[in-house]
Amino acid sequence: MSITLTWTGHATWLIDTGAGVILVDPFLDECPTASVAAAAIDCQAILVTHGHFDHVADLVAIAKRTGATVLCNWEIAQWLGKQGVTAVQPMNLGGRAAVPGGTAKMEIAWHSSSLPDGSYGGSPSGWLLEVAGVSVYLAGDTALFSDMARIGASVKGGLDVAILPIGDVFTMGPADSIEAVRLLTPRIVLPSHHGTWPPITQDTAAWARRVAAETSAEPRVLVPGERVLVEIVRD
Ligand code: NI
Ligand code: MN
Repeated sequence: MSITLTWTGHATWLIDTGAGVILVDPFLDECPTASVAAAAIDCQAILVTHGHFDHVADLVAIAKRTGATVLCNWEIAQWLGKQGVTAVQPMNLGGRAAVPGGTAKMEIAWHSSSLPDGSYGGSPSGWLLEVAGVSVYLAGDTALFSDMARIGASVKGGLDVAILPIGDVFTMGPADSIEAVRLLTPRIVLPSHHGTWPPITQDTAAWARRVAAETSAEPRVLVPGERVLVEIVRD
């Protein structure tokens, strides 16, 4: 079973499960490193981790144009409803819902969440996907937290992919992300939420060397627009 993951820059990801494309945290047209315009995105589902502008800037436009179902927390669902987005699956922490090719579970994250109009954004979250036989944990914007051990252990057969913020300042930085890898024990780890602006620019080669030396995971550093095929063979 296989999926492809595409990083378009910042914390925006496209996950093609074979049954459809899942878009995560669309921040494109105002993102200085984005590899693609919002108008060029095609997707069937959209996952939102929290309400900050660098995660929802292109959400309304893409949701309306594509008709993709948006999975998000209750408060973001209300905000979307006021703007005429109707295909919304409101959720909350711990809940699981269907996405193309499998399921998405809304996991905890330690961060804040307000919407661009200043309204309350509800609890921030991460996402645990089990799609096309592959498990993917997207931490979202978060600090390191010890429940990552529980999240990694919750996946039968072990976690395949972890997508972790490494930019520091607004989220955990490289050092805490190494500890996150130790707790999650994924097969592959991809860095996110870095390189967009100077405050969150990191030495990704040094990060990858540390992951390889200090954990059992394989680091995969992408450039915006790069795609990686994840193929998992199980008995
Ligand atoms: Ni944020
Ligand atoms: Mn952010």
